[in-house]
Amino acid sequence: MKAKTLFYCTECGNELPKWAGQCPACRAWNTIVEQPAAPKRTAAPAAVLSTPARGGLNRPKPMDQVEATAELRFETGMSELDRVLGGGAVKGSLVLVGGAPGIGKSTLMLQICDQLCRFATVLYVSGEESERQIKLRAERLQIRSQGLYLLAETNLEDVVEAVHGLKPDVLIVDSIQTLYNGDLSTAPGSVGQVKDCTMTLMQLAKGEGITVFVIGHVNKEGSIAGPKVLEHMVDCVLYFEGERQLAYRILRAAKNRFGATNEIGVFEMGDSGLNEVPNPSEMLLSGRPQDTPGTCVTCVMEGVRPVLAEVQALLAPTSFSAPRRTSNGFDFNRMNLLLAVLEKRGGLMVGACDAYINVIGGLSLDEPAADLAMVVALASSFRDKPVPGDLAAVGEVGLTGELRAVNALGQRLAEVRRMGFTKCLIPAGRSGRLVEPDGLQLIRVRNIREALAAIL
Ligand code: TYD
Ligand code: MG
Repeated sequence: MKAKTLFYCTECGNELPKWAGQCPACRAWNTIVEQPAAPKRTAAPAAVLSTPARGGLNRPKPMDQVEATAELRFETGMSELDRVLGGGAVKGSLVLVGGAPGIGKSTLMLQICDQLCRFATVLYVSGEESERQIKLRAERLQIRSQGLYLLAETNLEDVVEAVHGLKPDVLIVDSIQTLYNGDLSTAPGSVGQVKDCTMTLMQLAKGEGITVFVIGHVNKEGSIAGPKVLEHMVDCVLYFEGERQLAYRILRAAKNRFGATNEIGVFEMGDSGLNEVPNPSEMLLSGRPQDTPGTCVTCVMEGVRPVLAEVQALLAPTSFSAPRRTSNGFDFNRMNLLLAVLEKRGGLMVGACDAYINVIGGLSLDEPAADLAMVVALASSFRDKPVPGDLAAVGEVGLTGELRAVNALGQRLAEVRRMGFTKCLIPAGRSGRLVEPDGLQLIRVRNIREALAAIL
């Protein structure tokens, strides 16, 4: 059997069998603390709560004898959030909402209370703001809900007691980093505390059938509570992202036990809170420059929804010994690969250029279907010739410069047409059977040479 771990690092969560001055994993000094022995709990751990016979032995069951009832879902009133959750929040689930401070997590949670209160009792526990502050914010957001209860509290035991007293249907905890269990010697926000509090909330969710939303601040490295210690414990992990300077916010599921994780929800922060953006293509394309080299529009699938995105590239002769390259919203290695393909197979001498690329609107493109648009934007900047304003490009670029088919092409083309584009570059080949949407001219090309010849 593995030796019992008795110590852990408060910085990175690394567990050690004995104390050390420096953490061997993250090299931080004086961060190793003793792990308190797991307290004896009267409640059963979450994993066994669902088994009815507690006293008896839990035996394996044939799958066809397991009763499967569909999970109970309810809508939060924000369709963008519901979609990311997989069609509404699931009763008795624990959802972690992560994001950088000030991105709008508290605002989002408070706003869903408005709808939830119509049919449910909601308890909003805040360790960050007083009840008065929350009320003022709720008034600004025009939330005057009857069934909304506020509690400014940071002690876990008191929160649990309040939950047992009120018996809410929905519990919102803002934020997990401020909550603490007095039985532990570590400070609020430390790995041990955050883990312990989440475990207790998980038991509340599973045991009492309460839907729990937990807000977690993400630090600079992008992980919740320092290390990503909570992701494996909870049912759903949603990340709220966006540039603080820009009004747009994107909600993304990183994990979902009750649905897909490839959906995004788009919001806009306004004077009276977050507004849903049901048409993200329009938002992402607003303010697009006309007749300017170095920009091209593509269509990516965000879950089941096609979304148009603008990619921009700037190439300039380098004045360094090694050219500088930066990318924002697009995989850096993929950019280097496309630059190499462009040089070798497209015949453009881009190797001696600094290259900067950017995806507009805070979207990150991780789909190969965006390759062709990136190649077109790079070539357009290199040749200093604009891409026609009514043209979009969809296709994956291979290492020999060939273009490969992408999935859901029909849906993408329909979106391209809907947003007013009249031409679209697509890979030739299997897409031959595709019906052209009315008013959209399809330019079928086999490789990047043909693509560049066709439009630049
Ligand atoms: P908040 O929800 O407090 O962020 P978080 O809980 O993620 O830390 O939102 C903070 C920002 O949102 C703050 O900078 C002000 C802005 N905001 C608006 O622009 N409009 C509004 O109606 C509200 C409530 C906030
Ligand atoms: Mg907040």
